[in-house]
Parts: sequence; structure tokens; C-alpha cells
Amino acid sequence: MRPTWLSFVGLLACTGDPGSSGKRPPPEDTAEADTDTDTDADTDTGTDTGEPVVPWTQPAFAAPPLAEDLDERDDHVHFSLTPAPNTFTISDWQARTRIAVDGSSYNGSHPAPTLVAKVGDTVRVDVDNRLEDPTTIHWHGLSVPFEMDGVAWMRDPIYSGDSYAYEYTVQKPGTYWYHPHFDTEAQVDRGLYGALIVTDPDDPVVDRELVLLLDDWTEDQALPTDPDHVHGAHGAEGLWTVNGLVRPALTVTAGERIRLRLINTSNQGYLWLGGGSDDLLVIGRDQGLLARPEEVDRELMAPGDRVDLLWTPGTDTTAPALVDWPYSLHGGEALGDETPLLDVTVEGDAPAATTDDWPAADRTPTPDTEPPAFVYTFQGSAHTDDWLINGERFPDVTIQQLSLGETVVFEVRNLSSTEHPFHLHGLHMELLARDGVPPAQFADVDTVNLGLYETLRLRTTADNLGAWMAHCHILPHGDGGMMTVLEVVE
Ligand code: C2O
Ligand code: CU
Ligand code: CU
Repeated sequence: MRPTWLSFVGLLACTGDPGSSGKRPPPEDTAEADTDTDTDADTDTGTDTGEPVVPWTQPAFAAPPLAEDLDERDDHVHFSLTPAPNTFTISDWQARTRIAVDGSSYNGSHPAPTLVAKVGDTVRVDVDNRLEDPTTIHWHGLSVPFEMDGVAWMRDPIYSGDSYAYEYTVQKPGTYWYHPHFDTEAQVDRGLYGALIVTDPDDPVVDRELVLLLDDWTEDQALPTDPDHVHGAHGAEGLWTVNGLVRPALTVTAGERIRLRLINTSNQGYLWLGGGSDDLLVIGRDQGLLARPEEVDRELMAPGDRVDLLWTPGTDTTAPALVDWPYSLHGGEALGDETPLLDVTVEGDAPAATTDDWPAADRTPTPDTEPPAFVYTFQGSAHTDDWLINGERFPDVTIQQLSLGETVVFEVRNLSSTEHPFHLHGLHMELLARDGVPPAQFADVDTVNLGLYETLRLRTTADNLGAWMAHCHILPHGDGGMMTVLEVVE
């Protein structure tokens, strides 16, 4: 099943150039023009979906709702998630287009509720499947017992009308996310995903934390397997949303220290983040805080990736910014301009807060000396839409086995002409080297981008029993067979 767009109503009245969002008129211009050009669009979308018509003005940033904890005990959290069909609207207030998505949501909310637990907590999530199809929930980035991993491999999904209680403990603070792992491409594409945050009482203190669920939407998402429409393939970008909103406006206070938790939930959209005129201060990635923050000019977020940033706005600094640069999955220059993901206004007149007390330890990568225990070779072609690992298409795969407790080095090689985010369930990995070059510091990952013809050297400790999926997180590739199994046995 594919999502179908109920309507895509566009009045490109302003620029005639929807591709270069950097050149759109400021929000003030739009309110006036609204009255004379937009009547039809408003009527169409309003009556088709039964939703109130959203005005063509820049929306204010909104965080996803917080899931209510139904357990009173201090070391337990208990949430309830009900996936069900839902229609919601993506409004591009700049281009004056609306996409009415015939989608699905958890608890009737797009974006879905954020689940928050603290390290050591027992997490219980009751899932009541009101979809017409089977579903599961996978906890991306968390090491949980195999029967709680939410895969439909060697496990039944939750059938329509059934419920299931997931239960596990969380051991590692960080920014994680949840999504279905049954008919994954279609179900995530319809909007089923949310943030799962594991806090640590020892985390450095900030004044504010913001969760940003980033997704992109295109008309062609109705045809996600059409090889001509792979996002980023020709430098073409989808319409990015931040918590379901196109380019929202965020107000921050001078002197605040703000931790941003970014999650790329897109099916296949890459984000190449920049900070406007400033560098980004990266404080965390996949598996929690970095030993030492990194200042970067650009940060690549492949589908499934998380990045934590630190902002310290103040009268003595430029306002923070977050932009997406065009990125080509096939190498070479991508076309187009950078697109702001949101606009930030700084209020108040305090100088920037210090980051001097932010922990900054040296943690060097493990020396990369051992021969690989096994190799995963990624192969495929957008022309034939065949996506394979070691010449095999899931579920007809050779299962690689590790014994509980052993530590191995393995390689992931790309022999295809497109990039792939490699993701492993159940275990986490240290990135030892990318084409022979070690990372700037110790890198603990669960999702790692595999560049063109690149070789990644990874190290993992088999500390969790189970038959763990290892796959490309470009979901059409994963569902198309670019998936294998790494099993940990006694
Ligand atoms: Cu985020 Cu196997 O998935
Ligand atoms: Cu996962
Ligand atoms: Cu792929």
C-alpha cells in the first residue's frame, strides 16, 4: 500500500520558481496577497479534508507533544501508543501549497508524542493497533531484548485490532526514535515516527531542550519506488518539515543554553546541515553525547541519523540558524541553494552563555589493526531497482553468527553508485575508519552513512542475544532487499 495524496493544491503566485526557496518573499508579503489569489486553494483543501484552513503565514515552532507517563513509580515509565489512520496537512506557506496527507499517526497526533525516560528506567509501551494493516514498533538505536525489537522477522507483527506491550530497560542516555518495522517504507512514509529521549541526571545542564523531527515531503512520494524520483538523486530536494511545520519561526532568549535533538525520520531524504554563517556545535550523535563537542561547517544526516547541537544565542553572537544544503547521493555537485529549516529570533539582551564548562575529554578511537571477521558488500542500481548485500536479497540471506561476548571488526563496502545509511539493530558499533581514515574522535554509532565506493571499518561487541537486522535505512532499499541478519548466539 502506498500513501495517496488527497490533494496537492499549488498556487505558485509569488516566484514561479518553487525550487529556489532561498529567494522567496518574506512572510509579511504573503498575508496581503492571500486575499486575492488564494480563495480556491483554501476552499479546496478545507472541504476535502475537513480540517480548518491554515493561513499562509509563517507558523511558530512547536515541539511534539510529550507522552503522558502512566506509571507513578520513579524508575518506571509507561506509555500508550495507538497507531491509526489520520489525515493531516503539510502547509508550505511560502509556495502557498498544501499537501493533504492520507497518512497514519500515533495517538492522533502528527508529529507523534515524544517518549522520555531516564537512564535505568523500565519502559513499558502498550500498543493498540487500529491500523487496517499489521504493524510493529522498533526502537531505533536502543539495545533491547530481541522479542522487544519490533521486527517482523522471526516474530509476528501486531495484527490489526490486536495489542502488544513492549517492555525493556534503557541503559544509555541519548536521542533515539521509534517507528514501525513492518511494511516500513510505507508506514514511516505515512507519518508513523516519534522521538524517544533517554535523559541522564549527569548530563550537562542546559536551559532548554528542543526535539526536531525532520521529514521531507514530495508529490513523488506517492511513487517511492520510481527510480527517477529518488530524493536527492538529481539534487532535487523535498519539502522539509520540522515537527510537521515548514520553516517555522522560533524565538529564543539571549543568554540561554539550548540543546537541540535532531532526528532525520525521512524515508530517503538526506540533510546536509549548516549553521548559516556560523559553524554548528555538535555535542552528540547516534549513541549519546560526544566525549568532546565538535565545531563543524556541515553535518550530514542520512535517514535514521540523530545529531545533538548546542546553541548559545546572545547579544555578542549572530542569531543561530539551521539550513539544509542540497546533497547528491551520486557524488558531484548538487544543484540549488541552501534552504532554511527554521528562522530564529533572539529576544533579550544578555551575552552568550559560556560553553567552557561543557565536558570535553579525549577519547581516541580504538586502533584499527584487526582483519575483518566478515564483509558486507552493498550492491545495487537505481536503474534496475535491485538492492543487495553480498549478492543476496532479504530474506534469502546468509546469517552471520557471533558468539555472545565476542568483539569483532567487520567491513561494509559500497560497490554501488549511490550512498546508503548502514543501520544495525540490537548492538552498537564503533566506527574505526572510513576509507582508511579514522574519525576525529571515538564514534559510537548505530547508523552510519556509506559513501560512494567507500569502505567502513566497524567494531562491535556481541553483547545482546538475537538475530539482528542490518540494513540500509533508505527505506525503499531496505524493503527492496538491502537487509541482512547478524545473529548473536550463546
Ligand atoms: Cu530505524 Cu531497522 O530501523
Ligand atoms: Cu533500528
Ligand atoms: Cu541504500
